[in-house]
Amino acid sequence: MKQVKTGDDSVTYHNPKYDETYHSTSGAVEEACEKFVKPCKIEERSKEKDSIKVLDICFGLGYNSCAAIDAAECKIFITALENDEEIIHRIKEVDPQFENYSLLKELVRTKPRTHAWKLSTDQVNIKLILGDARDEIKKLKNKFDCIFLDPFSPKKCPELWTKEFMQDIYNVTAPGGILATYSCAKSVRDNLKEAGFKVEDGPCIGRKSPSTIATKQ
Ligand SMILES: C[S@@+](CC[C@H](N)C(=O)[O-])C[C@H]1O[C@@H](n2cnc3c(N)ncnc32)[C@H](O)[C@@H]1O
Repeated sequence: MKQVKTGDDSVTYHNPKYDETYHSTSGAVEEACEKFVKPCKIEERSKEKDSIKVLDICFGLGYNSCAAIDAAECKIFITALENDEEIIHRIKEVDPQFENYSLLKELVRTKPRTHAWKLSTDQVNIKLILGDARDEIKKLKNKFDCIFLDPFSPKKCPELWTKEFMQDIYNVTAPGGILATYSCAKSVRDNLKEAGFKVEDGPCIGRKSPSTIATKQ
C-alpha cells in the first residue's frame, strides 16, 4: 500500500482494492479531530462523567480512537472493529501528531491471543476486534456514548451503510449517544433516520459539504 501525505502533514495510505485513501487528503489528523471527536463532544462529555464508552467502527490506523483518547479527561473505554490485519500492522510505520499514539503502537506490538488486541491503563481501555463489523456488532454487550462510523465510501463499501447495519448500531447506542460520520449522502442519512436516529449536519471540513451527526434520543 502506498503512503500518502495529507494537507496537515499527517500520513495516510491508499487502499488499492477500494481505490480510496483511509482519510481525507485535506488532513488525516484534522479529519479525526474535527469530523469525529469534536462532533461526538468527547471532551465536554468526559468532564461530566467518570467514564465514557466509544465504539470505533472501521479502526484502520486508529486515528479516530487516538484523537478520542487525547481529548478525553475521564477514563475512556474503546471498542474498535476492523477486518483487515494489514492496516493494523501499518500503525508501526506512521507517527501522526497525537499525544497518545504510542499506546496504539503498544496495543498492536504483539499478536492477539484470540481475535482481539487489548490494552488497559488507568485512563484507557482498548479492545480492538479483528472481524467483519456486521458480525461483530451483533455480539457487543455494551451501550456506547459515542460512535465513529468511518467505512470507505458508500459507493465502494455499501455493506457498511445499510439500514440493517444502522439498526445494529442504534441497538448498541446509549440513550443520548452520538454517532459521527463523514458522509452526508441522502441514502446514508435516510438509513440512519429509519434506524431511529435524529440526523443533523456536522461540520464542513476540507470540502463544501457537511459531515453527519446522528443522535439517539
Ligand atoms: C476509511 S478506512 C478507516 C480509517 C480509520 N478510521 C483510521 O483512522 O485510520 C475504512 C476501514 O474499514 C475497514 N473495513 C472495510 N470493510 C470492513 C468490514 N466489513 N468490517 C470491518 N472493517 C472493515 C477497512 O479495512 C478500513 O480500515
